[in-house]
Parts: sequence; C-alpha cells; structure tokens
Amino acid sequence: MAEKTEKCLPENEQFFHKERIKYSPEEEARLEREHFWRIVDAFRYYRIHVQEMVKRAERQFLSLPKEHQALLPGVMTNLTRVSECANSNDEVLQAIVNNSIHMFENIEYGDREDPRRCLSSTFDMDKLKSTIKQFVRDWSETGQAERDSCYQPIIQEIQRLFPSDRYDVSTVTVLVPGAGLGRLAWEIARLGYICQGNEWSFYMLFSSNFVLNRCEKSHPIPRRKPQSLPPSSDFSMVAGDFAEVYTEPDSWDCVATCFFIDTAHNVIEYIETIWKILKPGGVWINLGPLLYHFENMANELSVELSYEDIKAAIVKFGFQIEVENESVPTTYTENDRSMLLYVYDCVFFVARKPEEKQYNGLTEPGLPPAAKSARREDIDQLT
Ligand SMILES: C[S@@+](CC[C@H](N)C(=O)[O-])C[C@H]1O[C@@H](n2cnc3c(N)ncnc32)[C@H](O)[C@@H]1O
Repeated sequence: MAEKTEKCLPENEQFFHKERIKYSPEEEARLEREHFWRIVDAFRYYRIHVQEMVKRAERQFLSLPKEHQALLPGVMTNLTRVSECANSNDEVLQAIVNNSIHMFENIEYGDREDPRRCLSSTFDMDKLKSTIKQFVRDWSETGQAERDSCYQPIIQEIQRLFPSDRYDVSTVTVLVPGAGLGRLAWEIARLGYICQGNEWSFYMLFSSNFVLNRCEKSHPIPRRKPQSLPPSSDFSMVAGDFAEVYTEPDSWDCVATCFFIDTAHNVIEYIETIWKILKPGGVWINLGPLLYHFENMANELSVELSYEDIKAAIVKFGFQIEVENESVPTTYTENDRSMLLYVYDCVFFVARKPEEKQYNGLTEPGLPPAAKSARREDIDQLT
C-alpha cells in the first residue's frame, strides 16, 4: 500500500502500480497470469479477428446473384475501408501491448505457459472494442461534447468546493475510482490538484499507460498531448479493485466517481469505502446512471438498488447531500453516426462526510459493516 501514492516520474511519467490483492496462493497467481496473457492476446489478435469478419461479409456479399451485387456498388469498397481502418487501429493496439508487458512497478507476469495457444475469446474482443471507443470518449476531439457533459460538472464542482483563492490546491487530494483511460483524473491534476486514478481492467490499464506515458505527439487520438501536464502536477494511476486497494481511513479530500458506482457487485460496499477513506469534511462527487454491470450475469452477486435506496443508504452512513440533480442527460462512447443512440439520464450529487463525526444524535455511524461482496474469483476478475 505504501507505494501506491508514488509521485510522477521526473519527465511526468505516471507510475502504474499493480496492487496485490489479498489472496495469493499459487493457483490465484496462475489464474491472474493467464488473465494477463489473455488480454495481451486480445490486443494481438484484433486485426485477424476484424479481417475474418470482413472476409465473412465479403463472402456473403459475393454469394448474392450478380444482378443484386450490381445494385450495391459501394459495398466492397466500404469493406475495404473497414479493413484499412482496422489496420490503423491495429498499429496503435500493437504499440499499446508492446509497452504493457513490463508496465507495473511491482509485478511481472512471467512467460506465457503455451505461447502457441491463443487465450482470448469473443468476450475479450468485445471488451477490446469498448476500449477503442473509450479512446474516442477520453482523448479525441469527437469526444469533446461527451466529456463536457460528463466530466465538466464534476470538475466545476471540485473548483467550486476547493477554489484556488481559498485553498492551496496542490495539497488537495482527489481520487477517481474506475478512471477508464484517465482523462477526468488527468484534467483534475492539470488544474493543480493531487489526483490519482484507480482502475482494475487490464484493457484500460494497458491503454492508459500508453496514452499517458508513451504518446509523444498530439494526433487525432490523443488530441491533446497527455504528457503536457505542468511539471509540478501530481498525477498517478493505481491498478486494482477500488474496494480492496483503498482502505486507509480519512485520507482523501474528494472522491470523484463518473459512471462508476453501478460497476459494483454490492454498491453499498463502494459507499462504505468512500465514507471510510474520505477525510472528515471531505466530499464525494458522483455522476452516472445505474446500469448495473453484473445484472443478468449467472453466478455473480448483483445487488441492483434504485437511486432512492442508494440515497437513503448514503444518508444513513452520515453523508450530507449538498447538491443533487436527478436528471443530467449524457452519452457514453456515443457514435453519432449510428442509427441507435442511447442517452443516459444520470444522477449527479455532492455528498459531504461531516467534519464532526456526529450526526443523527450518534457519535459514530453505528452501522453494521456491509456484506462483503463475493468478488469474481475467476479469470475475469480484472476486466
Ligand atoms: C463505465 S466505465 C467509466 C470509466 C470512466 N470513469 C468514464 O466515465 O469514462 C467504469 C470503469 O470502472 C472500472 N472498474 C469497474 N470495477 C472496478 C473496481 N472494482 N475497481 C476499479 N475500477 C473498476 C472499469 O474497468 C471501467 O473502466
């Protein structure tokens, strides 16, 4: 735990520290190694996967009667374009994965057991495609409007609550759990706050390591050169499960969650962790929907609470809700050229852990500890 708050490297390189999860028998280590290599494989096989899809589409098209094909002059050209785009994506993905093998400060994943066996599945490929979309959300010009709707309300609230004319912002600590590709955390650090992102998916960790530490120039992605943080900024990323990594009580001035709380097996566990790690007087800023991540997944604990239930629990912990807006429309990795567009009607709130540990006439929360969620112990645990 002590190393997780490592400062930036001199050239502003962010540390990636793989936080060891409590259980560490040999089998767990083997499963985690296998998981790591499975994600590496997903990156390595992306091009083959897309080319196979393109070939299949071409075969389907060419199986049509010639007179039908003649009515569709753009189809083959379009498929060639898809193939070219996949090749361009692949160049970036290979650069990402080549920079990821030794990215963690304190853990190595050794050699693969059988290098000839491809470990990744369709499920992994879907995760990889979501990661590519996350690049657009976080680091492209196209994602600007989405970032404005999701990240700006949080950033503005941090600036309102910790204004630079009243605070030495270089001492204000902000934690962003479920940081994705790190843009929100990076923006907060750019404003001078001490900011740490936390993430547990290897897809996101590999990719954010690349975008934050290895991108030398601005391109369409990243539109802005991430290393251009002021030299004095204090920005880091920590790998691991939020509820397992962050156990130090009273240690953060602010926890900022964006599209995160519904990733929990048990959202009360997240609330409990946030309550514990915030300093007295600290604030939790949240924006997001409740699209429970583990809903409908067999053999997964998934407690799908309404916002009303969550709010009641937050208040029972002792938080004071200072700001609340139950209808903030946002998108998430939107493709505005698609015929299917989703709009999330998000909830936004600011909840403060009171300075005094006294509320509801009690001096201590007096709450029983929330049930410990059965974290996935299979090889999917880090996705
Ligand atoms: C829906 S995404 C949101 C990402 C980012 N906050 C944004 O708004 O774009 C949720 C993120 O939380 C991460 N995540 C899920 N469970 C986590 C956990 N227990 N600890 C840390 N990160 C987690 C996921 O890997 C994913 O990157």
